[in-house]
Amino acid sequence: MKILFAASEAYPLVKTGGLGDVIHALPRALHQQGMDVRVILPAYRLILEQISNLRIAGWLQVQGAGRLHQIRILETIDHHLGVPLLLVDAPDLFDRPGSPYLHPDGYNWHDNAERFSVFSRAVAQLASTANMLDWKPDVVHAHDWQTGLLPAFLKLVPDAPAIIYTIHNLSYSGIFSHEEFIRLQLPGEWWSADALEFFGNFSMLKGGIIFSDKITTVSPSYAQEIQTPGFGYGFDGVLRTNHHKLRGILNGIDQEIWNPATDPYLPDHYSLKHRYLAGKRANKQALLEQLGVKLQDDQLNTPLLGFIGRLVEQKGVDLLLQIIPNILDNHDARLVVLGSGEKHFENALRELAALYPQRLLLTLGYSEELAHRIEAGADLFLMPSRFEPCGLNQMYSLRYGTPPLVHQVGGLADTVVDATPENLKNNTATGFIFHEPSAGSMLHAVERALSVYEKPASWHKLMRTAMAQDFGWTQSASEYIQLYEEISC
Ligand code: ADP
Ligand code: GLC
Repeated sequence: MKILFAASEAYPLVKTGGLGDVIHALPRALHQQGMDVRVILPAYRLILEQISNLRIAGWLQVQGAGRLHQIRILETIDHHLGVPLLLVDAPDLFDRPGSPYLHPDGYNWHDNAERFSVFSRAVAQLASTANMLDWKPDVVHAHDWQTGLLPAFLKLVPDAPAIIYTIHNLSYSGIFSHEEFIRLQLPGEWWSADALEFFGNFSMLKGGIIFSDKITTVSPSYAQEIQTPGFGYGFDGVLRTNHHKLRGILNGIDQEIWNPATDPYLPDHYSLKHRYLAGKRANKQALLEQLGVKLQDDQLNTPLLGFIGRLVEQKGVDLLLQIIPNILDNHDARLVVLGSGEKHFENALRELAALYPQRLLLTLGYSEELAHRIEAGADLFLMPSRFEPCGLNQMYSLRYGTPPLVHQVGGLADTVVDATPENLKNNTATGFIFHEPSAGSMLHAVERALSVYEKPASWHKLMRTAMAQDFGWTQSASEYIQLYEEISC
């Protein structure tokens, strides 16, 4: 079966979060199970700079905001992704500095509506004809708001492939004004509550919900949560109406890239079977030294907590900020934080780091290398997200023997087993769960974790159970294939 993945990022070419990781790993996993998969992305400057062997597959003329774009479709058998890569090359829209969505100064590109509607129109045109590529997909798999209009555009063309739409994060829903709707020359009948209209604006993500054959989200719990007002961001009604085509399929992780036995970013290697205690200890020491803390051997047992993530409300940064003084005042512990995001969170963290030198080790920015080293070097990984569609970091930390401490939501609830005395006893515990999104509830879980940490036998058991979990993509890829088969026959 031929599957075309359309998305706005893919590791290692361009990544701002977990979406990039998934668009790298899932196509590979599908390929391993016999699918003929290609990935199509916008030809951002950042991508063009990294790839040399590009071929022009053909040209398309695509409607933009009051103008037509001449677009090149570029093709490469790119080894970075492991499956063939296609690019929608519209230099006016994508050949720019900065991130896929943001100007280098941090604000949204003013023409994001045009950028991603042109991308979606181009993919729809390409996917509905075999001419240009000599390859026509049976299924188009679109991801997140940036490709939300793609299912809608596919409904306008004859002979269109089946379409599946995955919501990775409902809180980013591509909302734009009526004025923009007109400028993009979208069909007038789409300005309706049954189509794109969304409380006086329009939402691209809503196009994905309405016009696709199947909708998936990235964990079973999140698929349930988004049908409730508390997590639905205004879409809970339309999701309840469409629940018959909605499924939650848990993300996997790339177990080659995230493997403590081979990870090239790590100064020392380990696995469940080999040196897991010594290996983690060496990584902890190296991480602390890298961050300017030199400890004597006997001081290395003091707990090191870790946090990595976008510094936005979703990730529960406010909860973390509230409890940092409690943790650091009452325990001989350290916390290492890597992240970037909203300025008020960055500033609050900076202030706390100044109050707790050598204890709160803060890096504001983005670093793949440091992210891997924290996963390996920390003892306990904090993920207090207020909502979390799936979350990958908790699965990375399980694999690295760093029990995660999580809020019981979405994919976090689906992947972590709480270290209750009973679960510890029967060897099922893998981390710590708190139930209310409050500082008190989180702090209570941290206290619980630190008291288990003080009992090495229990802690090592927890680490071993965490490391023994299999969150590879095989099972989830099979579930996607089943869906592709259902909609394409
Ligand atoms: P989300 O996609 O909501 O940001 P996920 O847990 O699914 O959350 O994925 C986040 C990914 O981005 C992980 O691979 C994580 O390691 C990475 N990441 C987030 N922030 C940073 C950072 N500051 N530096 C390096 N990697 C980061
Ligand atoms: C989103 C979600 C995250 C998920 C990722 C990949 O960014 O916030 O929970 O893991 O997409 O699906």
